[in-house]
Amino acid sequence: MDDFHYQQGQLYCEKVNLEQLAAAVGTPVYVYSRHTLETHYDRIAEAFAALNPLICYSIKSCGNIHLCKLLAQRGAGMDVVSGGELHRARLAGVDMAKVVYAGVGKTDPEIRQALEAGIGYFNIESEAEFQNIASIARAMNVSARAALRVNPDVDPKTHAKTTTGKKETKFGVDIERAHRFFERYGRESHLRLCGIHLHIGSPIFTVEPYVQAIEKVLALIAQLRQEGIAVGVLDLGGGFGADYQSEQSPSAADYAAQIVPLLQPFHAAGGQIILEPGRTIAANAGMLLSRVLYLKTGGQKKFIIVDTGMHHLVRPTMYDAFHFIWPTNVAPAHEPKQRKATMDMPGLETCDVVGPICETGDFLARDRALPPVARGDLLAIFTAGAYGMVMASNYNAMPRPPEVLVDGKQITLLRRRETYDDLVAPEIQAVTGGAVRNQG
Ligand code: LLP
Repeated sequence: MDDFHYQQGQLYCEKVNLEQLAAAVGTPVYVYSRHTLETHYDRIAEAFAALNPLICYSIKSCGNIHLCKLLAQRGAGMDVVSGGELHRARLAGVDMAKVVYAGVGKTDPEIRQALEAGIGYFNIESEAEFQNIASIARAMNVSARAALRVNPDVDPKTHAKTTTGKKETKFGVDIERAHRFFERYGRESHLRLCGIHLHIGSPIFTVEPYVQAIEKVLALIAQLRQEGIAVGVLDLGGGFGADYQSEQSPSAADYAAQIVPLLQPFHAAGGQIILEPGRTIAANAGMLLSRVLYLKTGGQKKFIIVDTGMHHLVRPTMYDAFHFIWPTNVAPAHEPKQRKATMDMPGLETCDVVGPICETGDFLARDRALPPVARGDLLAIFTAGAYGMVMASNYNAMPRPPEVLVDGKQITLLRRRETYDDLVAPEIQAVTGGAVRNQG
């Protein structure tokens, strides 16, 4: 699962005691394990090796440039959805030919930037977008490659806010329209349409939706081939699960066991496979460490108020997502042998873990059974590496936490804690730099 483990009642990340880490860097803080991050990447690479895929890490899941660099050094490309993410990928030293660029709202400056960089593929989300990228490429006299994002209309059985592969979605085009799209745009020389892109949702905790989607797309590819249209690239997108609870997600090997045989003939015929995993690499590699500020009771409910909340980890508020939370220092009887929504141990107390933000929706856990805690104790919020820091905000003028990497015994600061000056700098610069002019 990951390299966060208890030893004599104390939580460690690899060989670092988290109480000591918190004393050194303060709280709240995002803590990443280098070993977990790299191992999860390697597991995907190994599981899918028979297809020799290009693994484009989905930078939206956790975009710290130093973490991206570690993955790039292992050969990863990146899946980006904005000019900002492309900038991050470049700073991380990613080979631009290994970058795929999705997203329904690419702007002209972003498109130009990606064309200049020479990225691998544009993942096309609509006809209007294809026409626009082709015309910009023509004007710049460059040629790029594109994959059409197709909606296979399968139900990934995940949260409505992260379901994408069904028909009524803003992403991609319906599989029935794909045919016409290739016929119409297959001969555009400045934007060569040579691939199909899928992304059906996230997280998907079963393999079945992938199997259904791939079967539909392979049938489309075969049909196109009969009509003389060659599709040489198949990008499966991301969406593989992570262990928010012990053994919740199929392993990389489980996904591959069903997916690889389906794609073997396509690969054997010279087709290239691209994967865009994010969560399954980053989620278990990171956790959010927070300190208990206050305990209080409201009616029958016990609240644990901590120094982090929806502004740093919005997933519980936004998706009712479950994150396992546990104190970093516990009595031997309370050492968790596994992470589950319901923990079967004597002496637990049911409480809500909430943050300091002035919203009732600011919670990290509701009705959760936890060992007793006191003011000053540390709480670990697990499996927060993906869609954690990247979705953090400055709401209520709260600085965002630092990010640190643990590598064995070593701790490296990957991003410093934001200051109050960081919060107001763009406003102060706007005025002193004269960026806002009085139009009156
Ligand atoms: N490729 C595309 C085109 C995507 O839209 C996404 C995620 C991925 C790859 C990576 O998916 P992953 O392997 O990380 O599941 N904020 C939500 C998740 C949103 C996912 C958006 N797209 C959450 O916290 O659960």
